[in-house]
Amino acid sequence: MNTRNTIILAAGKGTRMKSKLYKVLHQVCGKAMVDHVLTQVEKTQMDQIVTVVGYGADDVKATLGDRTAYALQAKQMGTGHAVLQAEPLLKDEAGTTLIVSGDTPLFTAQTFEDLFAYHEAKHAAATVLTSVAPDPTGYGRIVRNNIGIVEKIVEQKDASSEEQEIHEINTGVYVFDNQKLFAALHQTSNDNAQGEYYLTDVIEILKQQGDIVAAYQMADFDESMGVNDRVALANATKIMRNRINRQHMRDGVTLIDPDTTYIDAGVKIGSDTIIEGGVVLKGSTVIGEDCYIGAHSEIRNSTLADHVTVTSSLLEDSTMASGSDIGPNSHLRPESHIGPKVHLGNFVEVKKATIGEGTKVGHLTYVGNAKLGKHINIGCGVIFVNYDGQHKHETVVGDDAFIGSNANLIAPLNVADHSFVAAGSTITDDLKQYDMAIARQRQTNKPNYYQKLPYRGED
Ligand code: UD1
Ligand code: CA
Repeated sequence: MNTRNTIILAAGKGTRMKSKLYKVLHQVCGKAMVDHVLTQVEKTQMDQIVTVVGYGADDVKATLGDRTAYALQAKQMGTGHAVLQAEPLLKDEAGTTLIVSGDTPLFTAQTFEDLFAYHEAKHAAATVLTSVAPDPTGYGRIVRNNIGIVEKIVEQKDASSEEQEIHEINTGVYVFDNQKLFAALHQTSNDNAQGEYYLTDVIEILKQQGDIVAAYQMADFDESMGVNDRVALANATKIMRNRINRQHMRDGVTLIDPDTTYIDAGVKIGSDTIIEGGVVLKGSTVIGEDCYIGAHSEIRNSTLADHVTVTSSLLEDSTMASGSDIGPNSHLRPESHIGPKVHLGNFVEVKKATIGEGTKVGHLTYVGNAKLGKHINIGCGVIFVNYDGQHKHETVVGDDAFIGSNANLIAPLNVADHSFVAAGSTITDDLKQYDMAIARQRQTNKPNYYQKLPYRGED
């Protein structure tokens, strides 16, 4: 049976990244580069996927999980040597094998399909995917003979000055007849500028033994970009961002300024939602329909239902139910669950709290470790005092309660439903239903005292 297999090369350290993080784990729009590659491979019908790991093997495996099999390249001796590590898993397969690098995050499944189709139409033993680079520096060059047939690939460091003039580059993606691939790999040597076993040498070996070698030139160089340093990482991120933003717009989301809107690959947004400039949407964030996300908001791993308004605020690992709003300049810290039609106004910080339907927290308030019921009114400058220096304690406020401005609610505390806390109170004791608590000193007025003061007012 003819099988289709993929080998993803992801064992390199990525010296040029100058990073503690292994190259293929660097993120493009919130997703590791190698994960982008695997995601596109998964959209193409495959019998087996093998990822070659080495540097940071455990981290790469933790990122990709059991979506792929793994082969270990203990020592990084080049791309050809890397592919050989997959031989025990794949050598008996008849069929074709796609090879992709873990540092080319922009390839699409469609391009892989086009490459397979071209390869099959040419009855080739190997087909290399090429593109034309405006600046080919650093890439392997495609050397064709005088009638345009591919002869070999030369690496930048091994290329003559004439070969360096070539703009057609090796994208690092190939399809091979599986068994011919492994047979030819055993014939490669490391007699080159980098002392490595190059996968690219297989092209010349197959060609010389009389096999058909084809090259499929894709139209879009950007898609084939390889990321070896941080400059390329930023370029790839820009291209990916553009792609993501265009998809959202096509799906019915309004982006006021897509050039300054930063949406991670995993984010979902409902139609008719409007997103202003400078907005950052990260991780697993889900936003419903008809929402409004104001300028310079950042939302991380949070879920917003329909009709939610966020004005210049930071939301982390939280949820907001339908019709709720927040901001400007407010902050949902992790595990905040905001109920339907809740109003959170300016300078409100919420942490590890649930807030029930219709409750209003208008201004300058900290709500931490709390459970708030429905239709509560929290005045201005209320502090849920949750920390005694050692432990966090919880405050519960029942439905229809009223908390006056500038109150301190010292946890642990239970404020029953339909109870009332007077402004300026520091509350340490529980309130029962229908209680009114007032905890502040009475005011003293001293008649004519003003005239005894040195203060005489402003001129
Ligand atoms: C490679 C190609 C070059 C092509 C370019 C496209 C070779 C020799 N050169 O160069 O022709 O233009 O990609 O982006 O193949 N890796 C391993 N083990 C190793 C060495 C590398 O797994 O021993 C992995 C890396 O993690 C990386 C991929 O192989 O994902 C490519 O290696 P890299 O060093 O980035 O090759 P380039 O110099 O970019
Ligand atoms: Ca590379």
